[in-house]
Amino acid sequence: MNAFSQINAPVMQQPTEYVGFSLKPSAQSKRFLELTFPKVTVDAFFAAVAEWPVQALEYKSFLRFQFGKILNEICGETLRPVLVNTLMDRETGGLLVKPEGLNDVSQAEDMVKFSTAVAHLLGRSNFDAMSGQFYARFVVENTDKSDSYLRAPHRVMELHNDGTFVNQITDYVLMMKIDEQNMQGGNSLLLHLDDWADLNKFYRHPLARRSLRWTAPPSKNVNEDVFHAVFDTDGEGRPTMRYIDQFVQPENYEEGTWLYELGESLETSKAKLSIPVPVGSFVLINNLFWLHGRDRFTAHPGLRRELMRQRGYFSYPKVGHHHGQTSN
Ligand SMILES: [Fe+2]
Repeated sequence: MNAFSQINAPVMQQPTEYVGFSLKPSAQSKRFLELTFPKVTVDAFFAAVAEWPVQALEYKSFLRFQFGKILNEICGETLRPVLVNTLMDRETGGLLVKPEGLNDVSQAEDMVKFSTAVAHLLGRSNFDAMSGQFYARFVVENTDKSDSYLRAPHRVMELHNDGTFVNQITDYVLMMKIDEQNMQGGNSLLLHLDDWADLNKFYRHPLARRSLRWTAPPSKNVNEDVFHAVFDTDGEGRPTMRYIDQFVQPENYEEGTWLYELGESLETSKAKLSIPVPVGSFVLINNLFWLHGRDRFTAHPGLRRELMRQRGYFSYPKVGHHHGQTSN
C-alpha cells in the first residue's frame, strides 16, 4: 500500500431521512446512484451565495468549503453524510447529481458554484494545471486540434482513471455538462472495478505491481514524468487502479503487450455503463475503483459541448479515534 491508497474511513451517521434532496439507484446500475436536488433547494442555495461570484471562489479557497456548508445546512445537514458514505462505499462510489433548474449554458457560473459546494463536502478539489484553477471548463467542437482524445469528438475516449500523470492524490472526479448543441451520442462510460470480469486475471499478474512511467502531453502543462504501477491495494485489501492508455509509456515488449491486452479487456467489458448526462448535471465518482470514458459522437458542423471538471482528495470528517474501524 502506498500514499495513493485509500485508507479506512469511518462512515458517518446515515440520516434516517433526507432533507432537500432525493436519492435512488440509476436506471443503469444499483452501484451508480442518482441524487436530485429539487428547484426549491437549488434556488435557496443561490439566494444564500448571491453575494459571491465564481471569482471569489477562485481567490479564496476557504469560500469553497463555506459554500458546501451553506448547501448542507439547507439540506438539514443530511447531505454531507450521504455524499461521503456513497463515495467511500465500495458497493456504490458513484453518483449522477441533478440540480433542477440548471439546464442552460447561460447558468455556467451557477453550475460551477453548485458543483463546488458538493465537491467540498467530500474533500478539496486539486489545482488543475490545464486551467490554472481548482476547476477546468473546456469545449468540444466538431473540429479538434488538441493533442489527446479529451476534446476529439468522433471517437471513443477509452476507460481510464484521472490523475495518473501527477503526484497528487485523486480520490474523486467530478464531470459536469455545461452545454450541449447538435449532439448525438457522447454518453459517459463507466466501469466499476468489481464488475469487470477480468479484474483478477490482471490484478494477479506480476506486471500489475510493476512501476511504469507516465507522461502527459504538452496541453496538460505537466512537465515531469511520474512512476507508479497500474494496480494498488486499498486499506482493506481490495484492488484500486491508476491507469490511462494514452499516457503510459511501456519500457518493453512485455509491458506493451500486457497493457494492450488490459485495454482490450476493459473496452470489451460487458459491465460498462453508458450514462446520459443532461446539461446542468454532473457525474461524481470514486476515482480509485471506477473507470470513466466517453462514447463517440455523430459529426455535426454545429456541434458544441462544454464540460467542467474537478478532481480532488477526500477529507472526510474524522469520527472519534476508531482508527481501524472498517466501512460497511
Ligand atoms: Fe478523465
